Amino acid sequence: MTQHDPRTVYLRDYTPPAYLVDEVRLTFRLAPHATRVLSEIRFRPNPDATGRDFFLHGEGLKLISAHINGAQVTPELIEGGLTLDAPDASFTFEAEVEIDPENNTALEGLYRSNGMYCTQCEAEGFRKITFYPDRPDVMAPFHVRIESDLPVLLSNGNPGASGEGFAEWSDPWPKPAYLFALVAGDLVAHSGSFTTMSGRDVALNLWVREADIDKCAFGMEALKKSMTWDEEVYGREYDLDVFNIVAVDDFNMGAMENKGLNIFNSSAVLASPATATDADFERIEAIIAHEYFHNWTGNRVTCRDWFQLCLKEGLTVFRDQQFTGDMRSHAVKRIDDAMLLRAAQFREDNGPLAHPVRPESFVEINNFYTVTVYEKGAEIVGMLRRLVGDEGYGKALDLYFERHDGQAVTIEDWLRAFEDATGRDLSQFARWYSQAGTPRVHVAEDWSEGRYTLTLRQETPPTPGQPDKQPVVIPVAVGLLNPNGDEVVPTQVLELNEAEQSFAFDGLSARPVPSILRGFSAPVILRQEQSDETRAFLLAHDTDPFNKWEAGRDLARTNLMAMIQDGTGPDAGYIDALGRGIADETLDPAFRAQLLALPGEDELAQAIFETGHAPDPTAIHEAREALRHGIADRLGDVLSRLYDTHQITGPYSPEAADAGRRSLTNAALSLLSLTQGGDRARAQYRAADNMTQQIAALGGLLRIGEGEAELKAFEDQWSHERLVMNKWFGLQVAASAPRDAAATAEALTAHPAFDWKNPNRFRAVFGALSGNAAGFHAPSGASYRLLADWLLKLDPLNPQTTARMTQAFSTWKRYDADRKTLIRAELERIASTEGLSRDTSEMIGRMLA
Ligand code: ARG
Ligand code: ZN
Repeated sequence: MTQHDPRTVYLRDYTPPAYLVDEVRLTFRLAPHATRVLSEIRFRPNPDATGRDFFLHGEGLKLISAHINGAQVTPELIEGGLTLDAPDASFTFEAEVEIDPENNTALEGLYRSNGMYCTQCEAEGFRKITFYPDRPDVMAPFHVRIESDLPVLLSNGNPGASGEGFAEWSDPWPKPAYLFALVAGDLVAHSGSFTTMSGRDVALNLWVREADIDKCAFGMEALKKSMTWDEEVYGREYDLDVFNIVAVDDFNMGAMENKGLNIFNSSAVLASPATATDADFERIEAIIAHEYFHNWTGNRVTCRDWFQLCLKEGLTVFRDQQFTGDMRSHAVKRIDDAMLLRAAQFREDNGPLAHPVRPESFVEINNFYTVTVYEKGAEIVGMLRRLVGDEGYGKALDLYFERHDGQAVTIEDWLRAFEDATGRDLSQFARWYSQAGTPRVHVAEDWSEGRYTLTLRQETPPTPGQPDKQPVVIPVAVGLLNPNGDEVVPTQVLELNEAEQSFAFDGLSARPVPSILRGFSAPVILRQEQSDETRAFLLAHDTDPFNKWEAGRDLARTNLMAMIQDGTGPDAGYIDALGRGIADETLDPAFRAQLLALPGEDELAQAIFETGHAPDPTAIHEAREALRHGIADRLGDVLSRLYDTHQITGPYSPEAADAGRRSLTNAALSLLSLTQGGDRARAQYRAADNMTQQIAALGGLLRIGEGEAELKAFEDQWSHERLVMNKWFGLQVAASAPRDAAATAEALTAHPAFDWKNPNRFRAVFGALSGNAAGFHAPSGASYRLLADWLLKLDPLNPQTTARMTQAFSTWKRYDADRKTLIRAELERIASTEGLSRDTSEMIGRMLA
């Protein structure tokens, strides 16, 4: 369907813009239903263009008047914008348009959220504000005047004149329209300051509603740390006099890197110990860093077109991952990132929505802000760094910034910087950007007379539109251990570029135990015959923290697969090895909590599907619960000792060491509640002075069918805090027994606080429903129907969030005939709905193809 859709845009069709913009002046006269936007745009013919067709994007705009060089003109309004006969020379275009922010429920363009005005322009939202060449390769300095009685009026760049009812802003750095932002509201600031490496003073402000002023301190510190880090690690300095962040309650995504005026979903910036969990604090620190880092990777150097999205997103995610590693723990962060990649990106890569990190076509670009573009995009940057080394990476980045500052560039430009800086040929490596799918790497070993040989074979299964795959360049980090546990060959990176390749290690006195894909050195699936004894050995002895963890994960997965497919029980050997790992006081508590995390139900479903069987979500859930019981039974003493000895006595701090101890004690609590009842969790709930411990205790209770009183108390305590209430909504669905999940979600949609037009609240309930795998796939099909009903209700108002949430159905082809029939019926019901958004219809079309 996508292939033939007339609205499909293709990378190969790129042509340069006919006109460039030298300067933009915008005046906003804000009014809820009738905001006037006056624009004055200086155009100049693009010497590199092939034609002179003048076209400006525009959507949902009421054109009041238009002028060229001061003379009134009547543009021709066509689908998606306007056109007119433009001079073949520089000229000024002026327009006045009217828009209706109050009725903008799509949260794209200029809209209202709780009485404030705000914008979201990436990717193609600026065309909902005024007529403009809304494409990232048109960059210009912007001057903005805002007229409104609201007390705080913000836009990009540095502040200019202001007074009663108006404020002016100037952004000297040429930027594409997607980085434009405007905010107006009754806001207060948590302020700070930063002195850059060259001595420039920057005023920092985090703008929030009065009631949230107590949730800003952490975000401000995270911003300062990010600014310091980017100077120290990448040599990148901030370039304006002010940096503003605004928290907005209604937002489709996490946050947006608008130049000098980042706009954040309030859930991605507001935090206090009482209202936010350790995971929230870590996520906020990472998102603040991410958006700040975009100032160089995205803003100063931007994308030529939206097919190049990974150019800024993959690189910026990689940078925020490095930052979190530096602030906290590299080992723990790497494991978290690998878990996310496997749970979400491998899932995408193995289903109907698989696409290359640089897609070749799209109908709606908003549908391509995916884990593949972001997280696999970041993995590619990580592989590049491993292949060229830290020094080569540093040189390549310096060259990239120096060469392309102020430009809109492509993946080819990015790779050329690496080639020119390091002399390495990256033509084969470039396949990572164009080829979809997760490579499988098969391992064979040979040992004879002191020579150990590893033979690696790669193979990538077909993905939609790409039946045949080429070998990619896979950096495989390998170390070898002696049977006594000593490391005989420290980590080295093997480069697998061919379909099959052998690597020999000589001079060994005994057959070694290999530790392969250390640090998760490439986003691939390793296929390796390994005995449980070898895994337990690696769990005990591997010097690489990732593979140490991986060995435990492999043991857990093997045990779970046997329980599901052969009906066996929990494996004492695995549980004892796990017990030794979690009791090892030389290991970081956060790492030990990760050892206790079993593979998720969806990941197991995919693994079963790959053995050629339809997964049964109920059986998977039951097996996983049985293993949790088995662990709690056999390791009860260790777990309760860990629970007691890792309690924190002092005041709450979100820093990594304390957070790690809480994640270990909460993992122990959750297991112990299964076998010992709810007393410990109730006590923790009562004593908790922070959200991390409060919500973990509540979750532990709900999961054993208790906690009704606490659930009510929680609601009473937090009914005025919408971010906390999102947790209250989500947790009930997440903790529901499979057969109750749909009913729980449905009952919550009738709750007076279920504000379904707020994306955070909608996602709290329905994200949790699709995340409860056994509940979502309950045999009745009730969850499928409920979700489809609500997606159809949301689609006319907010296509972007609707389209994103259709992904709950993306794995449908894995399941048995009954489930497939039920899901297909819902997908077809959605597809055949009159007036379905382009966003949602593209997603459903791809899933049904
Ligand atoms: N650039 C933003 C970020 O990752 C995300 C913007 C998403 N916008 C969208 N329309 N999907 O930092
Ligand atoms: Zn980003």
